[in-house]
Amino acid sequence: MKKFIAQMEPHFGEEETLAMTEYMAEGNFLTEYKRTETFENMIKDFTGSKHCIATNSGTISLTMAALAVGLKADDEVIVPNYTMIATPNSIKMLGATPKFVDVEPETLCLDIEKVRSEISENTKAIIFVSANGRYPITDVRKLKELALDRNLHFIEDAAQSLGSFYPDGKHVGTIGKIGCFSFSTPKIISTGQGGALVTDDEDLAKRLRRLKDFGRSMGGTDFHESIGYNFKFTDMQAVIGIEQMKKLPARLIRKKQIWKLYKEKLQDVKEVKLFNHDLSHTTPWFIDAKVENRSGLVKFLKENYIGTRIMYPPINEQPAYKVQGEYPVSKEIGLNGLWLPSMIQISDEQIDYIVNTMRIFYN
Ligand SMILES: Cc1ncc(COP(=O)(O)O)c(C=O)c1O
Repeated sequence: MKKFIAQMEPHFGEEETLAMTEYMAEGNFLTEYKRTETFENMIKDFTGSKHCIATNSGTISLTMAALAVGLKADDEVIVPNYTMIATPNSIKMLGATPKFVDVEPETLCLDIEKVRSEISENTKAIIFVSANGRYPITDVRKLKELALDRNLHFIEDAAQSLGSFYPDGKHVGTIGKIGCFSFSTPKIISTGQGGALVTDDEDLAKRLRRLKDFGRSMGGTDFHESIGYNFKFTDMQAVIGIEQMKKLPARLIRKKQIWKLYKEKLQDVKEVKLFNHDLSHTTPWFIDAKVENRSGLVKFLKENYIGTRIMYPPINEQPAYKVQGEYPVSKEIGLNGLWLPSMIQISDEQIDYIVNTMRIFYN
């Protein structure tokens, strides 16, 4: 029987196994310590940030960012209507209200003009999501300036964007006050679960470190300067994360190759339109496309042992939110958006097979 090609599977190798075996043989506490520091330093250096704080998920990183800048219950926060639901949920956790704004059709990032018209006196922050590593067509700095002009916090949800840069060379997640990353299973590097915050602001970094560790500045003591929780990472995850980070440069190259292969081979399949990428700066995390007859294609590909995943439905229509509004772009993605197999370990031959199968379907 043919092997099923998953839309996404994490990829770990011997390096992770060896590192974990060595770590366990040392007799450790498993909780975050030296390995976490090394992992944080790797993220810090890679993104060019002054501080990195590892956490237990991307969602919690966003919640921590919101708490650290002082967002409170009933504050309004602008979020894209096309994103993983964790973005709005992260601030719901503290009782704040997400205000959904539609995205640009080309990049699926927040549409600055729509943001401008949605800001109200209750708005206190904008969470910018770089969708699949992309930056908006309208200079992202204009969005940041708009936030600063209106006295709003500008937080970057870079969960999908490790290895993506803005045109000026700054890593995505590093132009606002705080940037958030995720290392959940499907991400470009994974620690199973996990996240990280980056910031250049030392006070904010200290606040974030206390926030994740019961409000104390030093582990192993019971003196608490502020209210905090337990959003810590573990050294077990960091052991994996360190090995994954070593593989990141090669993964960025391969992710770009994968996108280029799909792009070339699907050129003449008019029913499939890949979203564009500026490969000189950004790295496609998933292969995202608008396709005709999506349900038929998904079924046909599945019958031929190919996995896909339907792109995020518009958040305002999710049963969890049910908010009225006009969101034509995210609505269309909800109807036609599809992620094709995007895992790092996919072979060129598998991509050939996937494209040929799609061609057969449309013919
Ligand atoms: C844009 C975005 N934000 C936040 C998250 C949440 O990250 P995590 O799953 O690590 O909580 C994700 C995860 O897929 C995401 O894609």
